[in-house]
Amino acid sequence: MSAENKIIQIVPDRNSLIDAALTTWKETAAEAIEEKGYFTVALSGGSTPIPLYQKCATLKKELPWKDTYIFQVDERYVGIDHDDNNYKSIYENMVKPLGIIPAHVVRVPVENNTAENAARGYEDAIKEFFCARNIQFPRFDLMFLGIGGDGHTASLFPGLTSLSERKRWVVSVKNDTVNHERITLTFPVLNQAKHIVFLMSGKDKAYQVVKVLKNTACDLPAALIRLQDGIVTYLVDKEAAWYM
Ligand code: 6PG
Repeated sequence: MSAENKIIQIVPDRNSLIDAALTTWKETAAEAIEEKGYFTVALSGGSTPIPLYQKCATLKKELPWKDTYIFQVDERYVGIDHDDNNYKSIYENMVKPLGIIPAHVVRVPVENNTAENAARGYEDAIKEFFCARNIQFPRFDLMFLGIGGDGHTASLFPGLTSLSERKRWVVSVKNDTVNHERITLTFPVLNQAKHIVFLMSGKDKAYQVVKVLKNTACDLPAALIRLQDGIVTYLVDKEAAWYM
């Protein structure tokens, strides 16, 4: 990845990380809507982005929700009411308070009878939205990613075959190190994004962060984000930047 499309922004704490993420959200949304009339954003699960979603919920007028379409980066294969379900968190913290209508949300259909069928159903839904007849991979305007303690991102975990998927847009993932089967966007889709923002917060991420950001030979999943034509912004709070 060339240096010019990789921005590392070290910020004092989690609050400033969320503020910086919001600034990028506002800017990329305005640019996308100006260019094509709508804005697509794919959201990760986990705990780090929750304050971002909660802050978005207070910005009914400041963000262009009527032209915004929300997608998921990944999901756990549990019911939509299960506390570990990523969409439940996005819905309760942002979609519901803002009154965002279902037509503006494309979520992983965990109600399908297997994780694999949930993955295929989600891929079909994305293809329908992006009118997939004439594209190889969808290009999201903005994507928020996190980093796991093992260097995973989305639900792409070290050493699993899903890292080398080059055709499918969405796959299901069985991984003994986590408590649920997962459904995740694949690297070809992640690396097609126009702008990816990594949210890297907390001392428990510091060791992975320095490897991903400083070791050019690092092959951890979070280090395999290399946008063909886009910008990756790494928002890193002081604790996560401990070894930088
Ligand atoms: C998930 C996420 C995952 C997350 C990292 C970091 O479904 O868990 O998509 O990739 O971003 O595991 O999680 P935290 O933000 O909770 O540290």
